[in-house]
Amino acid sequence: MTDSGATSLLGLSEIADVGRDRIRGGYSRHVFDSADQMLREWFIERATRIGLDVERDRNGNLWAWWGTPGPNALVTGSHLDSVPGGGAFDGPLGVVSALDSIARLRAEGVQPTRPVAIVVFAEEEGSRFGVACLGSRLLSGAITAERALALTDADGITFADAARASSLRPEHMGLDSETLSRIGLFVELHVEQGRRLIDLDAPVGIASSILAHGRWRLSFTGQANHAGATPMRDRRDPVVAAAATVAAVPTLALDTADARATVGRMNIVPGGTNVIASRVDVWVDVRADEDHVTRELVDRIRSTARDWADRNGCAVTVTEESWTGRVDFDEEPRNRFVTRLGGAPVLPTGAGHDAGVLAGTVPTAMLFVRNPTGVSHAPEEWASRDDCEAGIDALVSLIGSEA
Ligand code: HGY
Ligand code: MN
Ligand code: MN
Repeated sequence: MTDSGATSLLGLSEIADVGRDRIRGGYSRHVFDSADQMLREWFIERATRIGLDVERDRNGNLWAWWGTPGPNALVTGSHLDSVPGGGAFDGPLGVVSALDSIARLRAEGVQPTRPVAIVVFAEEEGSRFGVACLGSRLLSGAITAERALALTDADGITFADAARASSLRPEHMGLDSETLSRIGLFVELHVEQGRRLIDLDAPVGIASSILAHGRWRLSFTGQANHAGATPMRDRRDPVVAAAATVAAVPTLALDTADARATVGRMNIVPGGTNVIASRVDVWVDVRADEDHVTRELVDRIRSTARDWADRNGCAVTVTEESWTGRVDFDEEPRNRFVTRLGGAPVLPTGAGHDAGVLAGTVPTAMLFVRNPTGVSHAPEEWASRDDCEAGIDALVSLIGSEA
């Protein structure tokens, strides 16, 4: 295995060319697109090769079973989709590590006393339809099928139409109590998104909590007009209101204890160089330690947006698109895992995960693998071969002790 770039950890090298984004760099792999389809086919083939039985649930999540699907299953896995221009590890490392761990346990002749499964959740990043962890939210009822099916992508395609095109039946989507009831414990391995393990000098850690986080769409509207024929004082330019609001976001976040607020996506309509825009959509991702802190920061961003819209003769609406309250992972199995892994460090994360969505419904835990720079959601995301192997060793140990 090479240590350059994406480790050649078994499966990661096999999918290293799937969904490469030649324009942004990194990977763009989004639910039900061609890259996602190839990754699903790859997963099904790899899981089948190690003797697992693969099925797709009504919401498009994949489940590879070791043993008959049944209650109290030990489930591991993660997601294969990415952010636009994302890294090679966010999601796939958890899936590959799960495949390698179960292949190793089976090769060692382990006979589990409970069903074991690997899950691949759909649309964890929410990159295509805007809601994070859509597959685990649908499974657990954290989002209604009605709301999910009506979500649209940038081209106006509904989730219902995209699901139907992927041979799913929208009328069956939504809370899946039977599948959910099978989960006795979900353990998600994930590359760390941050630099705590580097500072702790540890290859593997265990999650304690996830920040309260969400996504809001700020839609500024004004009056489209000619760039040359319209005097500056006669304009109602939503770009000016939006830009002033975006410029204010970092200061508002810095004034809020360890909060994070990010504008990574804007859309100007109609988008002509010589056209004063009629509308600007700005998406803001806001996170903080406590639910109320996140929401209070959003309130301050909302009032700032309204102020700048008023000053520019524009209007603005603020729509919540995705919300996940703070997650504190169960102390058990967390403490069991710390002991089992010889005192692995426990650390919080600012990143959301399917394990966080399920934490309120079934026992869940997360394992993190050291990321030397902490960079994620970027092509530079990386973990060393040794640390990835340490993650698999840890997962083998946990599955071996829990199954
Ligand atoms: O956005 C997140 O925190 C995660 O990567 N979905
Ligand atoms: Mn991510
Ligand atoms: Mn992820």
